[in-house]
Amino acid sequence: MSAQIIDGTKIAAQITESIRERIARMERAPGITVVLVGDDPASNVYTSMKEVNCRKAGMRSEKIALPAQTSEGELLAIVERLNKDDSVDGILVQLPLPKHISDSRIIRCIDPAKDVDGLHPINLGLTQLGKGTLVPCTPKGIMRLLTECRVPIAGVRAVVVGRSNIVGKPIAQLLLHQDATVTICHSKTRDLASVTRQADILIAAVGVPKLITADMIKPGATVIDVGVNRVPDPSAPKGYALVGDVDFEGARSVAGAITPVPGGVGPMTIAMLMENTLLAAEARK
Ligand code: GUN
Repeated sequence: MSAQIIDGTKIAAQITESIRERIARMERAPGITVVLVGDDPASNVYTSMKEVNCRKAGMRSEKIALPAQTSEGELLAIVERLNKDDSVDGILVQLPLPKHISDSRIIRCIDPAKDVDGLHPINLGLTQLGKGTLVPCTPKGIMRLLTECRVPIAGVRAVVVGRSNIVGKPIAQLLLHQDATVTICHSKTRDLASVTRQADILIAAVGVPKLITADMIKPGATVIDVGVNRVPDPSAPKGYALVGDVDFEGARSVAGAITPVPGGVGPMTIAMLMENTLLAAEARK
């Protein structure tokens, strides 16, 4: 068997187009500000992609790039300024932040109504209650992929590998709300393979290259790979290759459907960021 490849790029493009059409009918285009602190190459690429894609959809989009030595107080002052700026509908502070700045203190300072990342405790709490409007982008994008691909969720067994606040915990909640039976695994889980092999839907979100191998997958399962790992590859133009948390080549012969890396979950995260920015702008109007 060879798995259906879930084309996140194509689905995200369709969503972007419908967002573009909605924005074209608005009196004022929604505006997002993306804040990057430091010079992590991957974060730099992600934030630029977010900014460029938002602009393509007709949004006002601005990127504030700050030096790595920016203090927590300086960053808090910038977030406060963006909170007060009426032309800004959405604020995204790219994570992780440099070690001397507390991620959670910064996120708590963002106005929840402008928190298009959905990571403020109020928005995470509402997501947990099933009442979230600004739901974290990657989990929201995964749910949209599953729906678009008509993957049954109610009653199935879902296994989430990874317990981060950005992906693991919220995706488990969203699956639970749609009546899946959900297990969360993490670095201390014993006999991981025996758990993952029970999954009808397997979500890998740990940041360990190719952790999930073919023998850990139930035949016919839907496999969603959230990992984006840079591994050294002298033959690649940039000297590294991007690989997921799943051994794609092995897994595709066992799974029923699988997301590739890149081109699976990543584009959906950006599409959901745009959708959240649109929702935030509409709610603030
Ligand atoms: N770093 C990796 N993923 C994300 C995300 O979804 N939002 C933010 N703010 N930072 C990230």
